[in-house]
Amino acid sequence: MEEVPLARPVLGEPEERAVLEVLRSGQLSLGPRLGEFERRFAARLGVPHASAVSSGTAGLHLALRAVGVGPGDEVVTSPFSFVASANAPIYEGARPVFADIDPRTLNLDPDAARAAITDRTAAILPVHIFGYPADLPAFEAMGLPIVEDACEALGAIHADGVPVGGRGHPAVFAFYANKQLTTGEGGLVATADAAHKERIDSERNQGRAPDMGWLDHDRLGFNYRLTDIACAIGLAQLDRLDDMLAARARVAGWYRELLADVEGLELPCPDTGGDVRGWFVFVVQLPRGVDRDATVRALRERGVQSKPYLPAIHLMSFYRERFGHRPGEFPVCEDVAARSLALPFFPALTEGQAERVAEALRAVLRR
Ligand SMILES: Cc1ncc(COP(=O)(O)O)c(C=O)c1O
Repeated sequence: MEEVPLARPVLGEPEERAVLEVLRSGQLSLGPRLGEFERRFAARLGVPHASAVSSGTAGLHLALRAVGVGPGDEVVTSPFSFVASANAPIYEGARPVFADIDPRTLNLDPDAARAAITDRTAAILPVHIFGYPADLPAFEAMGLPIVEDACEALGAIHADGVPVGGRGHPAVFAFYANKQLTTGEGGLVATADAAHKERIDSERNQGRAPDMGWLDHDRLGFNYRLTDIACAIGLAQLDRLDDMLAARARVAGWYRELLADVEGLELPCPDTGGDVRGWFVFVVQLPRGVDRDATVRALRERGVQSKPYLPAIHLMSFYRERFGHRPGEFPVCEDVAARSLALPFFPALTEGQAERVAEALRAVLRR
């Protein structure tokens, strides 16, 4: 029987047509698809501006620069994230200062974040992990610049009805192939601030101002451009985004029912208090004492891919060596990171496949 993969993008004729049109137009970068993609994405979030960039990581880097993070600064953020959110401040000579997470939502805990603020804190970088909205009102009350890592959270909605990424802080999305919307590689910064948009547009393009002559540069920049080919794929994906998000939510609903009564297994927290998750992955926490590596191997023998997701960033060797982190600093994060396992999750996953995955997990955990 064919293996159930972890992730698989929805791509088809609309994306093929969109790419061909760009190829035939000859304008492969900085063409009309770029602005069109940005405008449609921003409109969806209800913010005035968006800047498409080459990856979520590039977006985080430029967004931190835009809010003024620089050498010697501290950025308070979550240790339970993909490593890029912690790496981005380091690119600017700043230090990521971790604070523990909320055991229910797995997002940065506002009380812990508040306690981590010092007079060197230049920004807070909450991550909407696994698509669950971080508690932005609590972070906003702290009065510091905010950069949101919304790379996993397209389609999520805050309790007050504002889409994640639509609050006006620079909010960064990512479009790698496992994401809710893919352009192959890609990212985007949404913002309400025209000055942020102007700076990010310039810095993604080697520091050129839009109205400057060819090869005149008035500031340091990077090549973080997103091609028109990628933007065209993104536009085709935007057309089907609502369907893809609904399909992901349907798959999550099947898993939730199929796995509800597995003893000791913790499922992603249900939407609470008006928050709506934008489904990205289905990550369970294995019962305490279960050998996760052996579980992954046994699932694979049953034709089911799975992956430990995510490791605690502060315990990665680079972070231990560079910043002296040790086990025990962020106990909630460490406990969750040691037990979490991503199951196959993508819009086209069938109910039959979900049943196979659930049955395999039950069988492996019974052993
Ligand atoms: C939480 C989080 N932050 C940042 C990124 C970085 O995005 P990219 O891989 O597009 O650079 C990702 C994507 O994997 C992510 O999941």
